Amino acid sequence: MSIKINFIRGDEVLSTTMNVGRTMLDAAKKLKLPEIPAICNGACNCGTCHVHIDPEWVDKIEPMDPGSMELFMLERSDHFDQNRSRLCCQMDIYDVYDGLTVHLIDNRQDK
Ligand code: FES
Repeated sequence: MSIKINFIRGDEVLSTTMNVGRTMLDAAKKLKLPEIPAICNGACNCGTCHVHIDPEWVDKIEPMDPGSMELFMLERSDHFDQNRSRLCCQMDIYDVYDGLTVHLIDNRQDK
């Protein structure tokens, strides 16, 4: 089963489909998004796959583990938003995520 994922860049909506069980990083890579260089290739140690979850989806997705390396990485970012920040590589895609929308941050400027 595949679902629709939306990445927002300003006024632009970049959409793709991705199979359940893959990650949001897989979806971002499919779209070749320059804002998500994902330097560590999903190992949770670069922080360059950071996105902001759309406010409508914040309460619908699996919460982040508060003791996780994901949170540790996100807190180091200038763009950290306690309610909306997530790392694409740490987000598995579930069937209930159909239409999930996230906002792009230009992670190239974080470095
Ligand atoms: S790709 Fe490096 S932290 Fe997600």
